[in-house]
Amino acid sequence: MTTFKLGVLGNPVSHSRSPDIHQQFAAATGISLSYEKVFVSDGSFNSVANDFLDSGFGFNITLPCKHDAWQFVDEASDHARQAEAVNTISRTAVGTLRGDNTDGPGLVNDLVQNLGWPLKDRKVLVIGAGGAVSGVLASLLAEAPGALHVTNRTHDKAQNLEQRFAGTKAFAMDRLQEGYDLVINGTSAGLSHQDLKIPGSVITENTRCYDMIYGPGTTRFNQWCQKQAECEVADGLGMLVEQAGLAFMIWFGEQLDAAPDTQSVISTIRNNLDQALKDD
Ligand code: ATR
Repeated sequence: MTTFKLGVLGNPVSHSRSPDIHQQFAAATGISLSYEKVFVSDGSFNSVANDFLDSGFGFNITLPCKHDAWQFVDEASDHARQAEAVNTISRTAVGTLRGDNTDGPGLVNDLVQNLGWPLKDRKVLVIGAGGAVSGVLASLLAEAPGALHVTNRTHDKAQNLEQRFAGTKAFAMDRLQEGYDLVINGTSAGLSHQDLKIPGSVITENTRCYDMIYGPGTTRFNQWCQKQAECEVADGLGMLVEQAGLAFMIWFGEQLDAAPDTQSVISTIRNNLDQALKDD
């Protein structure tokens, strides 16, 4: 049986759950693979990627290398081109390198299919204007929300996204409207244990709140949301697993009758996170 060599390239990369997720997909679908974490020091993306591809079948890319990966590939999917970021590299039938971005479709799958939170005609607020946000805006827009507002601590960056993604509108944090249907946090503030300076009035008990970050227990942003109103919250674990499921299908879809079951992988990781919290 062929063992396919895959990996994730990034910096940092030691925290990545991608090896675990892809090994669970592999076990469920009868595919044999190795999946490595590959550290990319500053400025070395192309040489690390080329070395990996000497024997590698394909690979994922995490922060901060997604833009470098977009420049590295021979051709890119629409999602990757719009995001100017690539998170999955595969080889085409003629041996060229193709870049995809499954982050946006992964987020939409989690919102719409897993959570049952449709976007169509809804008033949506996205907080943040870094790579995580620019990677998902095109996919959110494709769901035809009624409004897609973007806000960011550094307002210029939100305005820049408004220019890049027709259909979005940039708002300064102190000018936001009230009562959004869906609020998505795409900032990294929670990772440094900081709160965002957005008005609580963006949230009502009818608002659904999604944090693209995940971890044991309720994330800092989602805790803040629940203090504003009794709203529904979800974190980004589902997005992580869904983007991986789409990457897995890019590599192995032709060999498989069905996509791997992402729900069981989400449940396994969630149980592990809950257990870690209890053991603390
Ligand atoms: P990523 O690729 O993960 O999006 P990034 O490009 O560094 O990382 O972007 C981080 C995002 O989190 C930015 O929108 C950043 O706001 P600024 O553009 O103003 O820097 C946001 N962010 C990080 N820490 C924050 C904080 N404490 N408060 C508000 N926004 C924060």
